[in-house]
Amino acid sequence: MPKIPVKVVTWDEVVEWSTRLAETIKEDKYQPDVIIAIARGGLVPARIVADVLGVMDVLSIKVEHWVETASHTPQAKVKYAYRLDLSGKKTLIVDDITDTGDSVELAKKYVSENFSPAVIKTATMQYIKPVAKVKPDYVASIVEDWTWFMYPWNYWEDEINLVRKLMNEGVKTEELEKKFLESYGVKPPVPLQKILQEMKRRDLLS
Ligand code: ADE
Repeated sequence: MPKIPVKVVTWDEVVEWSTRLAETIKEDKYQPDVIIAIARGGLVPARIVADVLGVMDVLSIKVEHWVETASHTPQAKVKYAYRLDLSGKKTLIVDDITDTGDSVELAKKYVSENFSPAVIKTATMQYIKPVAKVKPDYVASIVEDWTWFMYPWNYWEDEINLVRKLMNEGVKTEELEKKFLESYGVKPPVPLQKILQEMKRRDLLS
């Protein structure tokens, strides 16, 4: 049975962590002109940080992770690449979490090469210390043991993936509730019946 430590994150926690990020940035006397959200995870935190700091210009780049053929390590890539002139601007790149650090590292390089701003700083709510190869300039919480953070904008996607994992291990529909709790240590935030219905709609059930 897969054992994956999961934390179900509430909207209140997202507001608390994003606000804390913004307050740390204020204490550092850094006032960005432009906030760049890493889509999709950084969209909500970036918008909250922009609100607390009073930043009007929020834009986004879409970073995706995909596994190359014959390789097991996912590669981070920018999808829908574009160029922009941000010369003279102070920027802040925002994401939800620094896990391996690939997204933040790639976004920083991409922004530097394609947007040419004067300054780039990075911020994420979570920073998983034992695995991250880069540390953002600003973090709201340091995570000591690797955990999957189930953010509230991702409940359905995460739950579907976690349920699929169980089903691939041979877990039957009747045992899902119990095995979910056993394997992930949390109760599913969206009722499993709804998840199964949605999996059927997406043609994910055999
Ligand atoms: N995206 C990448 N790593 C993650 C994690 N540990 N939790 C939630 N989302 C993630």
